[in-house]
Amino acid sequence: MSQNIIRFAILQNESNSDYYHWVDACKKFGGGIQYKTIDLTKSKWFEEIIDYSPDILLTKPGGLTAPFKQLYDERLMILVKEMGFKCFPTLDEILIYENKRYLSYWLKANKIPHPETNVFYFLEEAIEFLKSTNYPVVGKVNIGASGSGVKILYNKNETLDYVKQSFYSKGSPRRWGPNLDKGNWLKRGLHYVLHPGDIEKKISKYRTIRADKQKGFVLLQEYIPHDFEWRIVVIGDSYFAHKKLKIGEKASGSLLKKYDNPSIRLFDFAKEIMDRFGFFSQAIDVFEKNDGSLLINEMQCIFGQSDPYQMLVEGRPGRYLLENSKWIFEEGNFNTNQSYDLRLKTAIDLYKKNNE
Ligand SMILES: Nc1ncnc2c1ncn2[C@@H]1O[C@H](COP(=O)(O)OP(=O)(O)O)[C@@H](O)[C@H]1O
Ligand SMILES: [Mg+2]
Repeated sequence: MSQNIIRFAILQNESNSDYYHWVDACKKFGGGIQYKTIDLTKSKWFEEIIDYSPDILLTKPGGLTAPFKQLYDERLMILVKEMGFKCFPTLDEILIYENKRYLSYWLKANKIPHPETNVFYFLEEAIEFLKSTNYPVVGKVNIGASGSGVKILYNKNETLDYVKQSFYSKGSPRRWGPNLDKGNWLKRGLHYVLHPGDIEKKISKYRTIRADKQKGFVLLQEYIPHDFEWRIVVIGDSYFAHKKLKIGEKASGSLLKKYDNPSIRLFDFAKEIMDRFGFFSQAIDVFEKNDGSLLINEMQCIFGQSDPYQMLVEGRPGRYLLENSKWIFEEGNFNTNQSYDLRLKTAIDLYKKNNE
């Protein structure tokens, strides 16, 4: 019966491949669903979506450059707020994604613990701030994953140079080449020998990042000493967590993970946020302070996955579920296809629940 078929529109971004995990998930899912990929970056995006009239929009926002991030946010806002479409991940999850300025305002407004963050649009105001702040302080560009746009600034002079560059010609300094802190570079080098096509993709990505000047503002954040970040991953009812270890100054982008048994309080902390905002797909990166309190560094609705699992407990892959107010570990492979299979299942269950 055709009215029982759920129609998905996969909203492609400026990259011509990274929406593909949604396509794979839809193909694998089998019956009961229909899907179409629509390129949100093209001029007929609106007409194409209205024409197809999907039940749910499956999103994959671009995370590389500011103009395309803005494009995705703007067009999705029109589809959700003006046209009443439902999207997965939700609009708010997309708006806080890869937007460190906006995320800091959002966390502050909602009284969620995070490193104190100041955003300046006037050079003089930033310089005034440097007189009274503690060092080190952390400078961040607005968008830019894997630590490429994050700089630990150890003293006032260094910070002053950084601030000036953020307002003048070049924009905030950021790394645009390969991340040499990532570890495993021998293995990655071999990967490119075996897959020469991937090198071109990487180079074109670096070129795009380098061309994206983020200037005219500066974001300075309180420095939080840490040896690792907890990454708490939540997709629907499934909870996972692992540690991201620091190489050099940064945990992000190191791809060095430690699959320690996570403490249950991480899941309580994450669940409160997921429930409060109606979120369904998040990687929440948190710092743990010496007194045990948790601070949110980042929240990402779409995130990379370098291993086939997001958590090991006693060496076994699986997930935590809250059952009768108790967190229960269930062994299994829940993170196939970069966790998109679980995302799609969550989106379908949600749709069915809302349309019962
Ligand atoms: N406020 C901070 N204090 C100390 N270190 C930080 C702070 N913010 C980020 N870092 C370090 O820099 C890394 C990258 O920063 P992050 O904000 O996660 O940016 P991204 O992952 O988008 O590159 C983090 O993994 C962390 O190790
Ligand atoms: Mg990070």
